[in-house]
Amino acid sequence: MTEKRTSALILAAGKGVRMKSDMPKVLHKVCGTPMLQYVLEAARGAGLDPVRVVIGYGAERIREHFAGANVEWIEQKEQLGTGHAVMTATPMYKGFSGDVVALYGDVPLLKAETISALLAAHRRAKALCTVLTAKVDDPTGYGRIVRSKSGALKAIVEQRDATKAQLKIREMNSGIMAFDGPTLFETIRRVKNDNSQREYYLTDVVEMLSRKRGKVATFTVDDPREILGINSRAQLAEVSRIMRMQIIERLMAEGVTIVDPENTYIEHNVEIGRDTVILPYTVICAGVKIGKGCEVGPFTHLRVDTVMEDGSEVGNFTEVKKGRIGRRTKAKHLSYLGDVDIGEDVNIGAGTIVANYDGKKKHLTIIGDRAFVGSGSVLVAPVKIGKGATTGAGAVVTRNHDVPDGAVVVGVPAKLLKKTKK
Ligand code: UD1
Ligand code: CA
Repeated sequence: MTEKRTSALILAAGKGVRMKSDMPKVLHKVCGTPMLQYVLEAARGAGLDPVRVVIGYGAERIREHFAGANVEWIEQKEQLGTGHAVMTATPMYKGFSGDVVALYGDVPLLKAETISALLAAHRRAKALCTVLTAKVDDPTGYGRIVRSKSGALKAIVEQRDATKAQLKIREMNSGIMAFDGPTLFETIRRVKNDNSQREYYLTDVVEMLSRKRGKVATFTVDDPREILGINSRAQLAEVSRIMRMQIIERLMAEGVTIVDPENTYIEHNVEIGRDTVILPYTVICAGVKIGKGCEVGPFTHLRVDTVMEDGSEVGNFTEVKKGRIGRRTKAKHLSYLGDVDIGEDVNIGAGTIVANYDGKKKHLTIIGDRAFVGSGSVLVAPVKIGKGATTGAGAVVTRNHDVPDGAVVVGVPAKLLKKTKK
């Protein structure tokens, strides 16, 4: 027997009018990463394949951003509603007999395990459609789950189209649904746009199936925060805050000390080793890697492509971008280190600045093991400071004037004082 595949169909074509932005909504970042990225990761984490994404507004920018990702794009030229987005995808599913999980690109807290649990419930119930729902105190803005007296799912009604009584329903539609694929595409063709927004609603499929032959089921998520959708900048901030605390809690569970979680900003996909201490007011950007037993902060900014090796320390008002900080190396005060490759046991004196940008291009600075960079040094890239070399306080090492291993340079521009340090 051949195993049937389960596809993810992620809807991400909307402009996101309520964001009041020129950028497509799903490219807005949550903890340093576009919100769509999280949905893609959840879909893959749940083993969904193929992963298909409906895009429309800003399609080119989205494709460009995710170039190389294992995603099939579907273009919805005019955004006539979530149901219309699924209609647009229909030709791609010709001959597809498996299940389809509909996901929304603006729901980034959703976990892979929740998708798996939804699918398991869907299969247990042998349903044609299973809706992921949540019970919340304030369902404002979301579709409401309408049940019959017996408790069976009858329909999903959008806030705008709801009656007074329906508005009181606390059970909301997450937008995430598992479908029997052939049933979905067969039914979606018949969805109409007779609602207040003149849109084709995917959610109408639920009512059509429940009225006809089919079995529709629901699965309630444990933590309703997982299905928060982002429609506005305020919701962007709210979801970002939740994700930020989840990241910090994970790192603490892995053995990282975070002295003040409320005032620490760590983005997506950051690795930090055991017994590293993160002091307050520190910003660590997506993808940064920090080893074991390091110290970071207070007031430190670690940007893209930075690696801190075991036992290194970066402190007060220091910014690192695209930098390797070697083992046990210290840069503790008031420095800018951009495009650097710094070896082991190096001391970067207070106020050291790497001038990596000549107005046109960025250049690399290499600093060898055990070098001692004096306070207030300016290193004009491209330049190399040799192993065990010293720069005097206030030295300006000019571009391409490499300092040999063990040498001592001083002054402006820096000149050789001693060939080797005694
Ligand atoms: C939708 C649901 C609502 C649910 C909520 C959960 C419908 C009709 N309503 O409302 O029941 O509670 O999500 O967050 O489905 N999109 C397209 N093409 C379109 C329109 C939308 O791809 O033509 C995409 C959007 O980019 C977005 C997603 O579908 O990622 C949801 O659209 P949105 O307009 O945000 O729907 P909501 O009003 O939030
Ligand atoms: Ca939404």
